[in-house]
Amino acid sequence: MPMPPDGRPNLLVLGGTTEARQLAPILADRGLRATMSLAGRVQRPAHQGLPTRVGGFGGVAGLTAYLTQNRVTHVIDATHPFAAQMSHNAVAACAQTGVPLAALTRAPWGAQSGDDWTRVPDIAGAVAALDCPARRVMLAVGRMHLDAFTANPQHRYLLRLVDPPEKPPGFPRHDVIVDRGPFKLDGDTRLLRDHRIDIIVSKNAGGSGARAKIDAARALGLPVIMIDRPVLPARTELHSPEEVLGWLSHADSGIGTDLGV
Ligand SMILES: NC(=O)c1ccc[n+]([C@@H]2O[C@H](COP(=O)([O-])OP(=O)(O)OC[C@H]3O[C@@H](n4cnc5c(N)ncnc54)[C@H](OP(=O)(O)O)[C@@H]3O)[C@@H](O)[C@H]2O)c1
Repeated sequence: MPMPPDGRPNLLVLGGTTEARQLAPILADRGLRATMSLAGRVQRPAHQGLPTRVGGFGGVAGLTAYLTQNRVTHVIDATHPFAAQMSHNAVAACAQTGVPLAALTRAPWGAQSGDDWTRVPDIAGAVAALDCPARRVMLAVGRMHLDAFTANPQHRYLLRLVDPPEKPPGFPRHDVIVDRGPFKLDGDTRLLRDHRIDIIVSKNAGGSGARAKIDAARALGLPVIMIDRPVLPARTELHSPEEVLGWLSHADSGIGTDLGV
């Protein structure tokens, strides 16, 4: 792992999540040099609190070249649990370059008393579960997967997206709300009521920012089709910014200094 000429660590944070944004100022406050990487899916990303690069690297080969050319000393994968391609690429590129990698992850949501969940393994499973008479569906799967649901055009879909869709969704009956989290229980309860939603489709994102609709569904007695997470490769998993600092200050990390944790 080539160190930068000044000998200071140089972190790459793979972001696009609340957790990455929360980590950023903590790294900056410790005087750690770090770059935030975003895929570029969102038109106006929130301020990231770190110098930011935007756009894909070009697969494993591109990320490997980036790590080498920029003398990255540590990678922190703080991407969304459904961003499986990026996480696979990070594992492969870090293995090839010898750059230490840790993932900042969040626990999945678990069903509680009062929840009415049907768990499905993936987007295709959610589409299959909606092969039923017309309902009013809150479809909380993000913009990238909407096309799959054109297989069930009988439903009326409520979409909540960060940006307005570039082209109209391929199902005829829909409502679009442009908004970004974090969302609150009272707001999401009102939303489900106002749109007379019968059923919610959600990824099991975990964390707090997107959780309100699941709590609102429980409060209103609504069923949820819950999409399980993709399987990711084994890697060091950390669950808080403090754990990231602990990992970075560990002697094996190459920083080997006390970061105050
Ligand atoms: N999937 C979700 O439900 C979801 C929800 C909220 C936020 N996000 C965020 O949105 C981004 C894209 O998610 P996705 O599910 O489309 O990812 P993905 O399917 O795992 O990644 C597809 C490709 O997008 C590029 N990419 C993804 N994350 C990147 C990052 N942080 N920096 C630079 N390039 C990145 C990579 O392109 P190259 O191969 O060219 O390097 C990657 O191979 C992620 O940063 C994720 O944290 C995703």
